[in-house]
Amino acid sequence: MKYKIAIDGPSGAGKSAIARELADRLGYEYIDTGALYRTIAYIALERGIGDAVESVLEACDQEEIDYRNGGVLLNGKPLGDAIRTEAISQKTSELSKHPEVRDYLLHLQRRLAEGGGIVMEGRDIGTVILPGAEVKFFLTASEEERARRRWLQRKEQGEAVDLETIKEDIHRRDIRDKTREVAPLRQAEDAIVIDSTDLTEEDVLDAMVAQVEKTYVL
Ligand code: DC
Repeated sequence: MKYKIAIDGPSGAGKSAIARELADRLGYEYIDTGALYRTIAYIALERGIGDAVESVLEACDQEEIDYRNGGVLLNGKPLGDAIRTEAISQKTSELSKHPEVRDYLLHLQRRLAEGGGIVMEGRDIGTVILPGAEVKFFLTASEEERARRRWLQRKEQGEAVDLETIKEDIHRRDIRDKTREVAPLRQAEDAIVIDSTDLTEEDVLDAMVAQVEKTYVL
């Protein structure tokens, strides 16, 4: 049987890399739901639409949003890193607090998970999107460590960024993601919490694979 595996947690906890690798190890498909939210923000910014959520979603209706091979296709073309800028991160965080936006993506996310064999990563996968997922992880790390990782990542990409600024961004986003009224970031009751502050990626993956294998046997 092919499972549905949910990985939730705050930004910068290493969810994307871990989810992608876990999917690889299990021969599952990786679904990055943050990329779907980012696509909505991308469309809003591209079209210069302000904060009117209805107009943003109307604009989205005129485009074809799909997800294949670990990434978003917008009108059939991979979006790639165009959705990874800081401006898009902030816009996404603002837009994703609206129930209309979450509802807009709910059906697409469930459709992508149909039939199982997926590792879906986000904020409310275990609680709202796939409450019946066979295995749920909540991956976290200290704010300090998450900021440091993001800073390293940016530096490796050749961006000159200031660690303090990143810390502030992460802190701001955390508060917004946790305190929003709709689908705030919280762990599902049956989620297994993994704090990766002092763990390597390999350690986290081994723990996850062991958990999945244990569930298979049960
Ligand atoms: O995981 P990420 O950094 O790409 O997510 C970008 C933003 O989208 C972040 O502010 C939280 C939001 N998001 C969400 O609200 N629900 C999800 N399932 C995934 C992302």
